[in-house]
Amino acid sequence: MNKKLIAGNWKMNGSLDDSKGLIADVVNGIFGSQVLLEYCDFLVCPPYLHLYAVRHALHGNDSVAYGAQDCSAAANGARTGDTSAEMIADSGCSHVILGHSERRQHHGETDETVRRKAEMAHKSNLITIICVGEKEEERDLGVQEEVVAKQISGALPDSANAQNTVIAYEPVWAIGTGKSASAEDVKSMHGFIRRKLQEKLEDSNKLRILYGGSMKPENAKELLATENVDGGLIGGASLSADQFLKIAQAALA
Ligand code: 13P
Repeated sequence: MNKKLIAGNWKMNGSLDDSKGLIADVVNGIFGSQVLLEYCDFLVCPPYLHLYAVRHALHGNDSVAYGAQDCSAAANGARTGDTSAEMIADSGCSHVILGHSERRQHHGETDETVRRKAEMAHKSNLITIICVGEKEEERDLGVQEEVVAKQISGALPDSANAQNTVIAYEPVWAIGTGKSASAEDVKSMHGFIRRKLQEKLEDSNKLRILYGGSMKPENAKELLATENVDGGLIGGASLSADQFLKIAQAALA
């Protein structure tokens, strides 16, 4: 059985103490229910400034991996405010989220930007979680597959393979709204993404496809049991260790 990847995107939330408390609660919860590790891999993506505190709290405990929420497309140099993939890898991160719809919306990121960032991340041996997903008006028009196909072909670099890349399908209208996509829509889109990946990658069947968008304990069982759903990218519910771990419990058969 393939383990599900249960990934928390903490976004720009919480104080340093909140992040320390949250990671401690997540680790304790996993320690208290070790069977979770047979079914799930865990990842948390705190704000950059809290990464080191998370690393410190983990003390080399590898039951939870940690990652960043973005990286620069440049290697180094005059990029005020940016953080390079190499710095992220150097701080112990294994993963980086790229092309989240919030970055596309608020920072004007395009598929081309995401592709250049992913190339840089792969050079630093980071696993990229590349986010795709249609907006509400695009789903209303029925063009969600075209939108996602374009994002995949534009954002995935030639360096992508099943070991260094994860796709997160996050329909924009489901993020932070409390309204997740239906299991039927998720099945259809994840199947579509799998077929698209087959055209591009040799080992496409092993590449994880996560669902993200209002995943919570109440809907996690159905979503995680859906064909081609290899885990979840969880926003709001990942800010509570209890909710985050309940979602992981939902992955237990
Ligand atoms: P929510 O779980 O809060 O909807 O956020 C999903 C998300 O954007 C994860 O990257």
